[in-house]
Amino acid sequence: MHADIVVLPGDGIGPEIVSATLPVLAAVAKRYGHSFSFAEHDIGGIAIDRHGEPLPAATLEAARKADAILLGAVGGPKWSDPNAKVRPEQGLLAIRKALGLFANLRPVRPHASALGASPIKSHLLEGVDIVVVRELTGGIYFGDKNRSDTEATDLCRYSVAEVERVVRSAGALARQRRGHLTSVDKANVLETSRLWRDVATRVMREEFPDVTVEHQLVDSMAMHLLSRPRAYDVIVTENMFGDILTDEASMLAGSLGLLASASLGAGKVGIYEPIHGSAPDIAGKGIANPYATILSAALLLRHSLGLVEEAEAVEAAVSAALDAKVFTTDLAAPGQGVDTAGAARAVIERLG
Ligand code: NAD
Ligand code: IPM
Ligand code: MN
Repeated sequence: MHADIVVLPGDGIGPEIVSATLPVLAAVAKRYGHSFSFAEHDIGGIAIDRHGEPLPAATLEAARKADAILLGAVGGPKWSDPNAKVRPEQGLLAIRKALGLFANLRPVRPHASALGASPIKSHLLEGVDIVVVRELTGGIYFGDKNRSDTEATDLCRYSVAEVERVVRSAGALARQRRGHLTSVDKANVLETSRLWRDVATRVMREEFPDVTVEHQLVDSMAMHLLSRPRAYDVIVTENMFGDILTDEASMLAGSLGLLASASLGAGKVGIYEPIHGSAPDIAGKGIANPYATILSAALLLRHSLGLVEEAEAVEAAVSAALDAKVFTTDLAAPGQGVDTAGAARAVIERLG
């Protein structure tokens, strides 16, 4: 098949992990007889520098026409002044919103060969296989914001329809997996969470009676996620809770550099990106872990292009590289580890 892939490297380690990932996709194309075109566009801080805005019209237009979008990361100290008029992160939020990508799937599956990199005891990690479905285009991220000299507000707002659609995505996913859904909220305090819980309960009862549902408050969830991670199958939650819980969950896998994501909406096009950021502390050194981005490319093959066998081949190649202890410095013992390019090469070699 032919696919037009829009590539948004962004800032910091973004260009490093994306340039490590494109050869993996090219190798997949070669091996399976596909043709992928890669068109690079600016987003984030680099777009502010070059065009004065974090999401230039040309980037959005290309994204709308693409079959899929691969993104690195945005942001960094250069653009982080609290009084800055525009911020890189606004570009990312705007493209998610403009494309209607309301469901952000973040799989958490600790790899047997990397368990030692996790701060959590290995016996708690064996068999852990979770997908967090994070609501991505609503909540406190997108409500009205105000700032005066003496105070600031961020409005958290959810509509019934916004909760329904993301719970439906999570319910459908749970049905294909182990049939268990955990809905996470703060219904003891927040009105938006009480709406969330009502809607989630109704949608699951009416449309997914075969899926078991449990509701969990986000504070205790943050604890249970580390103390009994095997208890979870699909977790669905609102935008900000999902953001925070998944960075926490990355410690089950051993590194933020291992967690991939797919941002999906009603259509086929999606944005595929690692859950981590631009990692300014290691940017420019060529040592970032590319596996999260490569695994995001696997999600791209599966969800936007429908290439399931190819997606599984990439995932198996990453697993094989981890089995061979091809670790970047975030996973390796102190003083050891390969660089970004070395890890990507190890994946390509194992693609067969
Ligand atoms: P971060 O995720 O960039 O980094 C957190 C820590 O994890 C750092 O120590 C970093 O070195 C490490 N890390 C992250 N990815 C890694 C990788 N692939 N390999 C090895 N180590 C890795 O979070 P932060 O420092 O809080 O944020 C930095 C910037 O990134 C901010 O501007 C933030 O807004 C932005 N950000 C962007 C995205 C995105 O583009 N989707 C996501 C999160 C944060
Ligand atoms: C993520 C990031 C973004 C978010 C930021 C950079 C806007 O942290 O993708 O997880 O909070 O959604
Ligand atoms: Mn985040």
